Amino acid sequence: MTWSRLTSFGGENSIWLFTSAVLVGLASFFDLRQGFVNLLYTETHCYQSVRTHSDAEPYANCFSVLPSGVFSRVFQAPPESPYARSTRPGFAIPGLWDGHGHLLQYGEFLNSVDLFGSESFQDINTRVNTYLDTHPDAGSKEEWVRGVGWDQMALGRMPTADDLASDDRLRNLYIMLDRVDVHCIWVSQPILDLLPESIPDVPGGEIVRDPGMGVFCDNAMDMIMALWPKPDSKKKQKFLKSAMSKLNEVGLVGMADAGVMPGNAALFKELAGTEDWTLRVYAMLECDDRNTFCPDSAEKHVRDDGLLSIASVKLFADGALGSWGSAMIDPYSDRPDTSGSLLVNATELTRVTIAWAEAGFQVNIHAIGDLANRNAVDAMTAALERVCPGESLTSCQSRRRFRIEHSQIIHPDDQTRIHSIGIIPSIQPTHATSDFAYAEKRLGPERTRTEAYRMRSLLDVNPILGSDFPVEPPDPFQGIYAAVTRKNPHTGRGTDGSPDGWHTEEALTLDQALRGFSVAPAHGAFLGGKAGVIQKGAFADWVVIDEPLEETDIEDFRNFKVRETWIAGKRVYKRD
Ligand SMILES: *[C@@H]1O[C@H](CO)[C@@H](O)[C@H](O)[C@H]1NC(C)=O
Ligand SMILES: [Zn+2]
Repeated sequence: MTWSRLTSFGGENSIWLFTSAVLVGLASFFDLRQGFVNLLYTETHCYQSVRTHSDAEPYANCFSVLPSGVFSRVFQAPPESPYARSTRPGFAIPGLWDGHGHLLQYGEFLNSVDLFGSESFQDINTRVNTYLDTHPDAGSKEEWVRGVGWDQMALGRMPTADDLASDDRLRNLYIMLDRVDVHCIWVSQPILDLLPESIPDVPGGEIVRDPGMGVFCDNAMDMIMALWPKPDSKKKQKFLKSAMSKLNEVGLVGMADAGVMPGNAALFKELAGTEDWTLRVYAMLECDDRNTFCPDSAEKHVRDDGLLSIASVKLFADGALGSWGSAMIDPYSDRPDTSGSLLVNATELTRVTIAWAEAGFQVNIHAIGDLANRNAVDAMTAALERVCPGESLTSCQSRRRFRIEHSQIIHPDDQTRIHSIGIIPSIQPTHATSDFAYAEKRLGPERTRTEAYRMRSLLDVNPILGSDFPVEPPDPFQGIYAAVTRKNPHTGRGTDGSPDGWHTEEALTLDQALRGFSVAPAHGAFLGGKAGVIQKGAFADWVVIDEPLEETDIEDFRNFKVRETWIAGKRVYKRD
C-alpha cells in the first residue's frame, strides 16, 4: 500500500517516506511491548508428543499459548531443557470438529427419551415410562414428551398413535417422537386431536395413513411443529450447555451447526463468549420458512475469537433414504413406484441459491439422493457463474466454498462436476455404516457401487467429516473408525454381521479421516490455518489422549476416551 502511494504521489515522496518510517518505528515498538506481555503471560504446555497437522512441522512436543487463547509457538524442546522436564503424560492432537451436527437438537436429545436401538413397541413404551419417572411434569399440553431414535425397520412396521395409547400411563399424554433420521415424527392421539378432522396430503411430505395415523414425514412435519410448544430461551440455554459439555467430552472443540433459525442465531450471539459457551460454532442460517431467501433476518456475524461465525445458509433439496424421501433420478430398487421427492424444485433451488450467493453467504445444500445432488450442483454452478462473471468456476468456488451436506448418492456425471468445480462434500461416515443395512436394497448393486457413500474418491475436494448428531452419536473417533474400516462402530461389523467392511474401496486412511474431522471442517468454515491445526497464530485448541493414534488399534476407536479437551488455552474437559 505504501509503495503504490509512493509512486502515485511522485513529488511528495519524502513526506511519505518520513511518515512510513515513523509508522514502522511505532509498529515495532508495539511489537516489542506486545512481545514482553507475551513472554510474561504465555503458558507453555509440553506433552510426550504433539501431532500438529501443520506441513512445516508435523510433530513437536511443546507449544506456548498467549492470554488471548492463540498459539504463539510450537516447538521441539530438547530432552535436557527445562520445558521437556515439565512434560505432562499424554499425547496432544489438534482439537476436533464435527462438520455437520445440530447443537440445540442434541441438547434437547440429551434431555429427552433416547429411542436409539429400540426394537419393539414394548421397548419404546418402557423407555418413555422410565423417562416419565424422572420427568413427572412432561407430557402436558405445554410440555410435550420428546424422543428420538425409532426406526420402522426395527419395529417391523410404521408406528401409529394407537401404539402409544396401548399404555395406560401414556394414553393421554402429548408425545412427539422423532424417527432415527429426524425426517419423520410419530405423535400421540392428543396431538392428532389438535389437527383438523381431515388432513390433505402435503407436497414434499408424507402423512402415513397405513396401518393408522400417527407419522408425519418431511414437509408434513410442519403442521405438527406449528403446534409444538417451543422451549423458551432459558430452556434452550440449558440444552446448549449440556450439549457443549457432552461434545467437549468426546474431544470436540468446534462444529458446523447445519440449520440455525434466526431466533436461535440471536440467542447464540448473546451467549457466545460467556462462560458456558465452550465450543466453536459455525452456524448455517435456516430461514423460518425453509428454502427461502430471508435477508431481513440474516445478519452476518463472525467473531474474531472464533467462537461463533454466521456467514452461511442451509437449504434442503430432499429428505432421507431410510424413508424413501431422498430424491432419485431413477426409481428405488425396492419401491419401483417412487423415486422419492424434492423438497423444492430445481428452478426454485437455483433462484434461492443465487439470491444468497449474491448477498455474500456461503450456500450449503442438504442433498441425499442423486437427483437432489444434481440439482444442488446445478444451483451452485449457476450461482458461481452469477457472482463471479468471467472467472472460472473453480477459482470462484475456492473463495465461496459452497458445500453439499451429506453428498450421499451422486451420479458419476455429477461426481465429475464436483471434482472439476471443487464443490465441498460434507460427509457423515457413520451414516454409511448405519445405512448399509438397507442402502443396497434401496439402490440396487449398480448405483451402490458407482454412486453411494463415496469418501476416498472425493478426497481431492477436501471432504468435511461429521456425524449429524443427534442423528448419530457425536463421538468423532467412531466416525474415524467408520471411515477407516467402513464397519459399524457399534457392532464392529460390516453388513449382515460380516467381519469385512462395506465397499472398502471408499475407505480413508487414519490420517485422512483425522483431517476430515479437523483441517477440512476448519477450511469449510473459513478458519483454515486458525482451527484444526496446532501452529503459531491458530486458536489454542487441543485434545490430550493416552497413546499416539498411529499406535492405537483401530478397534479401540469404537470406545475411545479422551483425557482432556482444551479450547482457547482453557481446559473444558478432564476425564476423572
Ligand atoms: C417451482 O416452485 C415454485 C415455488 O414453489 C413455483 O412457483 C414454480 O411454479 C415451480 N416450478 C415448476 C416448474 O414446477
Ligand atoms: Zn443434519
